Formats: sequence, C-alpha cells, structure tokens
Amino acid sequence: MRKPLIAGNWKMNGLRASLLELSGMARAFSPALRAKADMLICPPTTLLFPAAASALGSGIAIGAQDCHAKESGAHTGDLSAAMLFDAGASAVIVGHSERRTDHGETDADVKAKAEAVIAQGMLAIICVGETKAQREAGKALAVVAKQVRGSMPANANAAQVVIAYEPVWAIGTGLTPTIHDIAEIHADIRKNLARLLGKDAAGKIRILYGGSVKPSNAKEILALTDVDGALVGGASLKAADFMAIVEAA
Ligand code: 13P
Repeated sequence: MRKPLIAGNWKMNGLRASLLELSGMARAFSPALRAKADMLICPPTTLLFPAAASALGSGIAIGAQDCHAKESGAHTGDLSAAMLFDAGASAVIVGHSERRTDHGETDADVKAKAEAVIAQGMLAIICVGETKAQREAGKALAVVAKQVRGSMPANANAAQVVIAYEPVWAIGTGLTPTIHDIAEIHADIRKNLARLLGKDAAGKIRILYGGSVKPSNAKEILALTDVDGALVGGASLKAADFMAIVEAA
C-alpha cells in the first residue's frame, strides 16, 4: 500500500558533468520499475534546474537538500521553497543531520522549513536519527521520538511528508544498525506518528532508512515492514549503484 521511495542525496557533490549519471538513471528507470517504486534525486542546488530539465518525462523527481523557512527577504545566500519549486524541485530534504550539526538547526527550525515546503505544494523529507553516543546509551528510540515530535508539522499527510531515519553514525561510514534495530526504530516511529497524526495518516506516511545503504544491503533493509524506501548518499552518485538499489525495492 505504501509505494517505496528511493531517494538520492548528492550532498555537496556534482558538477554539470554529473548529469550524465542522471541520464543513465533515467534510461534505466523502466516503466516496470516506475510502477513499483518512486525515485527522487536531490542534486546540489546549482544543478537543480538542468537536472529537472534532464529528468523530464523519465518519472524521476528532482528535489533540493534544504530551504529557508521564510518566503523571501533579507537572507543572503539562502533559498526559499518557492525558488526551489521554480527551479524544478518537487521535494526538499529538511533537517539532515549534516545541517543539524553544521548549521545548528533545531527541531523547531526543521519544522518551520517543512511547513514552508508543504505550503509550496512540495514533499518534505524530514530527517531524524541518533548519534553513536545516544545509541550506546540506549537512548536511540527516545531521541528519535523527540525529533519526530518536534520536527513534524501539525496535520501533515502522506502526500506532504516523508520521514527519513538516518542514524548519524551510519552516514558515510559503511556501518548500519542491525536489521532488528532498524525494524524496531521504524516501528516505533510509526507508533509515534500515529499518536501525532492518527493511525490512518501514520499508516500511509513513508519512512525511509538512510545510512550506508548499498546494492549489497538494500534488499534486506527494504524488505522490512516499516521501511518504505531509502535515502541514499554515496551510492546515489553512480547510476549503476543507485539503480541496483531501485531494483532491490
Ligand atoms: P550515505 O549513504 O553516504 O551513508 O549517506 C546517507 C545520507 O546521509 C543520505 O542523506
């Protein structure tokens, strides 16, 4: 009932030549695959417009990696949801742990950004996840529950939001939680979504796993009941790797 979403986050990687990888993905995203999984690529903002043009008609959606919560104004260097939409984005990642760490973004900031994304008619991909110290202290479920509560806009529905659970210690490290731990935390996130939004809405919202997803581990992770897709960093930069993950979904 929940169509899997395989999303690629290129982070601060990619020049115009990288659009060749996107064309490769577009060629490989067959009608049969499109019927079974949604696909999204979030390139750096400089590539948003050409990426959207290149992906036109391919079924691949294009998204941004962050946005400002305000509509416009004196915010040098920032970009509004309307600008990202205008450049061809249909989704925006908000609250990635690298933004929470590098730019001190709080749950309240993330919520405001998600609200701006939704107001623009785009999909907000809200990232949550514990650090290694928090996991080792047995606090992963509590930390993530608090982030979900604090970052989720009120009354959001499945067409407006996706949650991405990305344990900070699994990002770019080659480490992943055990299958049991992923299943446990995803089920807990859904339980918390039900408390916030009602059981019906929570049952429809997609919860992605992110953190060292590769072709070799994608199948096992994506087979879990409450894992509705993946948010992929490193392995989304090459068409061959990324499409292997889409195939696994
Ligand atoms: P990696 O897949 O490189 O671990 O990155 C995950 C991530 O942060 C996606 O947003």
